[in-house]
Amino acid sequence: MKTPIDIAVTGAAGQISYSLLFRLASGELFGPDQPIVLRLLEITPALHRLHGVEMELNDCAYPLVQKIISTDDAKTAFRDVDYAFLVGARPRGPGMKRKDLLECNAAIFSEQGKALNEVANRHVKVLITGNPANTNALITQKNAPDLSPKCFSAMSMLDHNRAIFQLAKKCGVRSKEVKNMIIWGNHSETQYPDLKHATVKGQNALSLVQDDWIANEFVPIVQHRGASVIEERGGLSSAASAANAAICQMRAWVFGTEKGNWVSMAIASDKSYGIDKGLFFSFPVTVSAEGEVSIVKDLEIDSFSRARIKETEQELKEERKAVGHLL
Ligand code: NAD
Ligand code: LMR
Repeated sequence: MKTPIDIAVTGAAGQISYSLLFRLASGELFGPDQPIVLRLLEITPALHRLHGVEMELNDCAYPLVQKIISTDDAKTAFRDVDYAFLVGARPRGPGMKRKDLLECNAAIFSEQGKALNEVANRHVKVLITGNPANTNALITQKNAPDLSPKCFSAMSMLDHNRAIFQLAKKCGVRSKEVKNMIIWGNHSETQYPDLKHATVKGQNALSLVQDDWIANEFVPIVQHRGASVIEERGGLSSAASAANAAICQMRAWVFGTEKGNWVSMAIASDKSYGIDKGLFFSFPVTVSAEGEVSIVKDLEIDSFSRARIKETEQELKEERKAVGHLL
């Protein structure tokens, strides 16, 4: 048996975690021979609910779970963690924009950034899911100056998977036949799902779909999918698909991307494609088997795409300005 790894999950009594934790505990992400310690963080009033989740995890008698630590103290949750899923944050309700959550959620991430800075493993991989995810990632990273910015990413995998599904459905193929999809920018309505470099069964996607379907259906459906799910689920935001995306993104980050394909991940910009340095911006990336993330460079960007990329960058700059006091 390997040495156990420590995994922190925040908001562990919430909806997303209710799907995520059982998949982590079963070994789906790190493999059937990798023991794990689960370190679960909640706010004090939710500790009862968290205890219920812990009871259910115990009742699964998962062979890989070595220990479960449930706490309302961030430093206890993050002590020596190798991986952290920052899920805990308020979700939006019908009619809200994700950035409306900035005010109530931002402080959570400055506090947790400080705690990670103090006690996490120096090579920790921190995946931020709580909304608005990109700017929360920026806040977390800026409050953890002793950790490399490479330790942080915000989740764009849900958008990436949504875009793959829409294109696959349109072309009448299975999702696995779609490669090289891109989500640019913010996890918000300004994100730009770009299929101009995507392939379907090896053929360029652009040769298979019409421009007006891209502009009037594909892009808006993906951009507004989160709100559509909230509407259909009677006010609850996506949970199982979000947990799935968290697993997919962490898997790509830890074990690497498949040859000839890339994924979308929001990471600190190194000025690629002219994006302001340091913004957590979703780019197409490849990841080596050692977990080294590289932005896919030199893709041709036409004027339609350029305008959308600039728009989502502008929104992220405004969000950064709004939380300037926490950076
Ligand atoms: P939820 O309300 O069901 O659960 C959130 C949990 O976080 C609650 O149990 C709450 O007590 C806890 N929490 C609040 N503050 C905390 C803190 N300081 N420390 C630890 N825990 C804390 O919400 P959910 O549906 O699980 O969604 C969680 C977040 O993820 C929301 O912000 C939602 O908008 C976001 N989300 C993001 C994506 C994405 O693609 N990035 C997708 C879906 C949802
Ligand atoms: C999503 O994309 O489903 C989440 O970000 C939840 C939301 O508020 O849309």
